[in-house]
Amino acid sequence: MIDTFEGLVERGSPEEFLLRQIDPGRLPRHIAVIMDGNGRWANRRNKPRVSGHRAGATSVRETVETSARLGIRHLTLYAFSTENWKRPRLEVDTLMRLLREYLGKELETLVRNRIRFRAMGRRDELSPGVRRDIERAERETAHHDGMILTVALNYSGRSEIVDACRRIAAEIVASGGDPSRISEADVERSLYEPGLPDPDLLIRTSGEMRVSNFMLWQIAYTEIHVTETLWPDFRRTHLFEAIVEYQKRERRYGGAIDRVSEPEVPLTTVAGPQGGR
Ligand code: FPP
Repeated sequence: MIDTFEGLVERGSPEEFLLRQIDPGRLPRHIAVIMDGNGRWANRRNKPRVSGHRAGATSVRETVETSARLGIRHLTLYAFSTENWKRPRLEVDTLMRLLREYLGKELETLVRNRIRFRAMGRRDELSPGVRRDIERAERETAHHDGMILTVALNYSGRSEIVDACRRIAAEIVASGGDPSRISEADVERSLYEPGLPDPDLLIRTSGEMRVSNFMLWQIAYTEIHVTETLWPDFRRTHLFEAIVEYQKRERRYGGAIDRVSEPEVPLTTVAGPQGGR
């Protein structure tokens, strides 16, 4: 792992110390990120909010490259929610432009690193220009076998579930199927990106303890890491920190792990003479 970051991570630095703690055999397969705090980052510098988004695009670049270098299989970034249309026109336009700039400038990096690009969300509501750039990036990276970078754009977890329900209902109406046979697998195959495994680790920046309508179906058993760091300040080190913390967690998926093997004790002994309730 250290060799992969040769020349990037300084020998003997706290960052190298973190990197050494990462077990390459137990990496999260899928990391999802709620990138938050761009506005606050800008406000603290007396700058317009859009400058926070611009700075945030640099964090996107570093996070994508670091994740690919680490060998993460899936990285999903929450770039624009269906609620974000309520923001001032200039801010919405800037966010769309930054995405298009990213796709324009970074396509080469995606190709070099064999990263596959996908967008998920209600794309029919995006402008034709944004749709064109997304489709081009998807087409040109479709054959890549490296990390899969999914950008959530005009996305909300609830709309995704609603859209999945509509799709399933339409199938049932068309085929005369039985609604009582709808399974979790049917919902999963009707989500925007059916092949995307559930995130193992969800990172949220800027200290907010919310999931903000992000991948609501998929994060049922996801480990959540919240950092106070604002997204434009998020760097390689913060990603290492999140992974180190993730690897210390014990994932139980609703099950139980017995550490102590207690001797079988008859219920009456435990509950006393009044009985077992
Ligand atoms: C939340 O910060 C962030 C966003 C709504 C957008 C994230 C977008 C980028 C980082 C731009 C580039 C994206 C790509 C994929 C190239 P906020 O504005 O809600 O921050 P606040 O809570 O401090 O106001």
